[in-house]
This record gives sequence, structure tokens and C-alpha cells, in this order.
Amino acid sequence: MAIVVVTGTGTEVGKTVATAAVAAASLAQGLSVAVLKPAQTGVTGGEPGDAAEVARLAGEVTAAELARYPEPLAPATAALRAGLDTVGPEDIAEAAAKLAAVHDVVLIEGAGGLLVRYDAQGSTLADAAALLRARVLLVAPAGSARSM
Ligand SMILES: Nc1ncnc2c1ncn2[C@@H]1O[C@H](COP(=O)(O)OP(=O)(O)OP(=O)(O)O)[C@@H](O)[C@H]1O
Ligand SMILES: [Mg+2]
Repeated sequence: MAIVVVTGTGTEVGKTVATAAVAAASLAQGLSVAVLKPAQTGVTGGEPGDAAEVARLAGEVTAAELARYPEPLAPATAALRAGLDTVGPEDIAEAAAKLAAVHDVVLIEGAGGLLVRYDAQGSTLADAAALLRARVLLVAPAGSARSM
């Protein structure tokens, strides 16, 4: 059983595509895969989110979300503005542990970069990764060293 947090240096750097690549490689080895997007921002209603995109790209994975917020903002801000509950590191860790009980691989895709805030306390996906003792996969665009 492996839990991997997939994060990045920012938004639109390729986290979903990298998650799909790891999912596809895991499936090809005969492993069962779950993809968890704790906070899906920038979508409304039944629009497909990143977890659904991984399923589209990689195939037979369990796709799960804990919350979705319409505005493409940091989850804490998006939740506040939408009047919706935030998702904290404990919620993420609990959901990931449940998925890990019945899947070989659990991939958790963050929103934006690693230190984006998920709740009013300023918790980040790094806190969830620490709770889970999960490995972290950091996705960066080619050439990003110049802008860091
Ligand atoms: N290795 C790659 N080569 C070329 N294009 C890529 C690559 N990885 C991702 N892309 C493209 O870059 C865009 C952003 O990728 P992706 O959706 O995976 O980023 P993301 O970090 O998950 O974004 P978000 O912050 O919205 O979750 C998409 O159009 C995707 O098709
Ligand atoms: Mg994504």
C-alpha cells in the first residue's frame, strides 16, 4: 500500500497529468488505484474535476473528492467565499486512509502548490502528508528553476 501526495510549484504545472501517469503505471503493474482530490476548485455542479480527468486518462481508478468550490482560488478562500465547509488535513488523512484500506495505491492531488491554504488555520497539504507519512511528488514545469 502506498499513499503519494502529488503537489506542484503552482497551478497548471501538470499535477493531474503526472497523477495520471503514476496511476497508469500502477495499473499496468496490476495494482488497484484511487485518486483523491481533496478540494476541487473552479468547477460547479457535475462538471468533471481533476480526479475524473485522471480516470479518463489512466483508466480504471476510483475517483474521489471531498469538496468542490466554484471559484478557482486557494481552497480556504474559495470555501469562505462560497460559504462552504473547508477540508482540513485530518479530513484528508482520514479519507486517504479509508481508500488505502481497499486500494494498493492512493494518489492525492493538491490544489495549486504545496503551501496553498486549505482552512482558516492555514493548514496545507504538507500537513496532510505529514499526518499520513506519505511520500510527496512535486511537479514542476521544465525550466522553472529560473523563476524560483
Ligand atoms: N508533460 C506535459 N507536456 C505537455 N503538456 C502538459 C504536460 N503536463 C501537463 N500538460 C498540459 O498542461 C496543462 C495543465 O496540466 P494539468 O491539468 O495536469 O496541471 P495541474 O497542475 O493539475 O493544474 P491545476 O492546478 O489546475 O490542478 C494541461 O493542458 C495539460 O494537458
Ligand atoms: Mg490538476
